[in-house]
Amino acid sequence: MTNLIVILLIVPLSLADETCNRDADKCEDNAFKVKHTKLYSITPSRSEPDVNISSALTLNDGVKIPIFGLGVYQAGSGVETKNAVRCALENGYRQIDTAARYKNEDSVGEAIKESKIPREDIFVVTKLYDDDHGFDKTLAAFNKSLGKLGTEYVDLYLMHSPVPDNVISSWSAMVKLRQQGLVRSIGVSNFGIHHLEELKKHSTVMPSVNQIEVHPFLQESDVVNYCKEEGIAIQAYSPLTRGKKLDHPTIKAVADKHVKTPAQILLRWCIQKNYICIPKSSQSSRIVENASIFDFQLSTEDMNVLDGLEEGFRTGRPKIQEPWKG
Ligand SMILES: NC(=O)c1ccc[n+]([C@@H]2O[C@H](COP(=O)([O-])OP(=O)(O)OC[C@H]3O[C@@H](n4cnc5c(N)ncnc54)[C@H](OP(=O)(O)O)[C@@H]3O)[C@@H](O)[C@H]2O)c1
Repeated sequence: MTNLIVILLIVPLSLADETCNRDADKCEDNAFKVKHTKLYSITPSRSEPDVNISSALTLNDGVKIPIFGLGVYQAGSGVETKNAVRCALENGYRQIDTAARYKNEDSVGEAIKESKIPREDIFVVTKLYDDDHGFDKTLAAFNKSLGKLGTEYVDLYLMHSPVPDNVISSWSAMVKLRQQGLVRSIGVSNFGIHHLEELKKHSTVMPSVNQIEVHPFLQESDVVNYCKEEGIAIQAYSPLTRGKKLDHPTIKAVADKHVKTPAQILLRWCIQKNYICIPKSSQSSRIVENASIFDFQLSTEDMNVLDGLEEGFRTGRPKIQEPWKG
């Protein structure tokens, strides 16, 4: 990908020199000795014609993540998930976002294996669920996920939410998993600023990614700006508003103007915001449709119109606002 801009580059000192135990405040990660290293390369406005489905964003740990992927929440284990992942991979998707909670990691793993695409060319994301918090439980839950996926490593392991107790010891275990090479990157999901600030107090390692609900109707500007400052990439979930705003007149008008579908307008907005975008579909025609967003651009005026749609519309539980429990 050309035209990359490194916002602020502080080269990690050493990716290998990392020690960690149960107490997060004793977690040392020399890659992050300069606290909260900001190595976060983006394509400015992602409007260059050469941005495509294979384009990647460089995270604060140097790992490259595809800017576009398939989410598989609510895709049934077995045929439904396998077909969706297979279709996505055949159509150029190179990131799959699953979770222990979704109960389809095994199907994701099988589809990846059957695709014959080299493992290193596919970016696999899975998540630690709320029931599995604590140092030892996190390590055990990760091993279970790895077994189900049938891979030797996970590209990005996310803490699914900040809601439970023991977040700090779970994070410490995730740092250890990265140290062991079982995970390439670690991150969080549904974290608000107050959660991230607590993490910062207790660990020298900040997340590479915060996966949160974001679309024009819920822009989470405060969290997004905080994450930008801290070099944490935003992975936007429910980018299609789970289909609930696809018939909004403004979205339809922009779609008509570009001879695109409302879904494609929401996804293109997400890409041009420099978010990592993971729409879910189990239908092959929609999987193809959702990926067909790299042949047009939204103008600054279009982006401003879409930015004007903020209304705090949330499709899921507001875990991002829950109090910190430690
Ligand atoms: N970290 C978290 O807490 C969290 C929470 C929610 C989601 N996520 C992740 O983010 C992914 C995406 O979010 P999401 O699944 O909540 O919602 P979404 O991607 O915004 O929307 C998915 C819904 O839209 C439909 N759809 C897909 N493409 C469409 C199109 N072109 N036209 C019309 N409808 C379309 C899908 O139905 P069909 O399948 O029938 O096409 C499905 O009902 C999830 O799968 C998951 O990986 C994470």
